[in-house]
Amino acid sequence: MNTRTTGGEGVILIVDDNATNLGVLFDYLKNATFRVLVAQHGKAALELLQEARPDLILLDVLMPEMDGFETCKHLKENPATRDIPVIFMTALTETVDKVRGFELGAVDYVTKPLQHEEVLARVNTHLTLGRLKQHLIRKNEELAAVNRNLAHLVQEKTRQLVQQEKTATIGRMIQGIVHNMKTPLAVIANSNLVITKKIEKLSAGLSSTPEPEIAELLNSIAQDSALVEKAHGQIMQIVNNLMLKSRMDQSADAKPVNLNSLLKQEFDFLNADPQFKHKTEKELQLDERLPELPLVYSDIAQVVENLINNALDAMWQSENRRLGVRTRQDSSHVYIDISDTGSGIPPDKLEAIFDPFFTTKPPKGEENEGEPTGTGLGLHTCLELLKPFRGEIRVESEVGKGSTFTVVLPKEVHKG
Ligand SMILES: Nc1ncnc2c1ncn2[C@@H]1O[C@H](COP(=O)(O)OP(=O)(O)OP(=O)(O)O)[C@@H](O)[C@H]1O
Ligand SMILES: [Mg+2]
Repeated sequence: MNTRTTGGEGVILIVDDNATNLGVLFDYLKNATFRVLVAQHGKAALELLQEARPDLILLDVLMPEMDGFETCKHLKENPATRDIPVIFMTALTETVDKVRGFELGAVDYVTKPLQHEEVLARVNTHLTLGRLKQHLIRKNEELAAVNRNLAHLVQEKTRQLVQQEKTATIGRMIQGIVHNMKTPLAVIANSNLVITKKIEKLSAGLSSTPEPEIAELLNSIAQDSALVEKAHGQIMQIVNNLMLKSRMDQSADAKPVNLNSLLKQEFDFLNADPQFKHKTEKELQLDERLPELPLVYSDIAQVVENLINNALDAMWQSENRRLGVRTRQDSSHVYIDISDTGSGIPPDKLEAIFDPFFTTKPPKGEENEGEPTGTGLGLHTCLELLKPFRGEIRVESEVGKGSTFTVVLPKEVHKG
């Protein structure tokens, strides 16, 4: 008989202690174009399976030492071999043994003496089933991955939307609050001025040596009035910063801006301040081939001013004050570096400095001689101003040495 039996692709492991059976089945399956591995007992099969990964196992039930059931149990316990379909070969016809085989995880059985065509048919069926199962598992994994990805995307998008909505709501709230505060603030300032004037008038009308109680009372009113003026000043500083922020929400038209000229102008402006001119060494290093970028001039000027002010503030107690401003570019971005030899920023504060109202400076009126004051809105405002141009700010800083703030602007700007 030399007809080639139809088989297929795949590796089959035959486990049988009977060398004759093994040989006949080996030849038959080999002839059916399968790759065939053999083992003569359960232990040998398990050893072989540490290296090989057959697509199907034909397992004899009756074997010395470790029988087929025992071998099957081991196979199903090991995650590496658990999914390989097992077909039992059994001479036993009692129902109980067949049931035991299925209970142990076998997919099928064939009875001895073997009908080779039957073996082939069953082998082919289970190989196909096995492949379909693997295919399904892979598809399922792919689907699960797509699902995870989708879930992540939805979550991220939702977070962005909530954040945008929050920012917009806060912006509207701030505008409303600032608007409502302006009139009462003006009233406070005016009334306080009137009170001061009235005290002056009263003092002038009194005799040169007024009653001590009256003198004391007038004095204390004057002190209270000074306190009110100071508090008013603090509130106005915050209000002005907030108004700047809400002004930003009204989008202005972007026009090509020459950042080098903008920086030169800022330096000329600073040079007019004698404090800066005489006490601060400055270095302006401009890339003359810097392209013009579509920006809102006043917004970028505001960003640069805020950063330069911070740099100067950071150096108020420094021995050597050096302010460096530099422009540079690469293929995709333009950079403005503003560096100082000031106090520097501790690493754990590097993120917080961009939070609104984060400041290490005292409010106006509470500063020591020459000490800079702040509201903590400067850097936050910078980020908001840069947002429409997809700009960002990077910081490098070393405590006691100084800091470099870098404005990063993409060359391709899509205003959004
Ligand atoms: N160049 C710098 N060197 C050291 N610290 C800095 C520098 N720039 C900013 N900081 C730190 O970041 C904080 C926040 O800066 P930001 O400009 O937002 O507010 P501010 O300068 O304190 O107040 P405002 O700018 O509103 O008047 C500052 O108080 C300071 O501690
Ligand atoms: Mg500032």
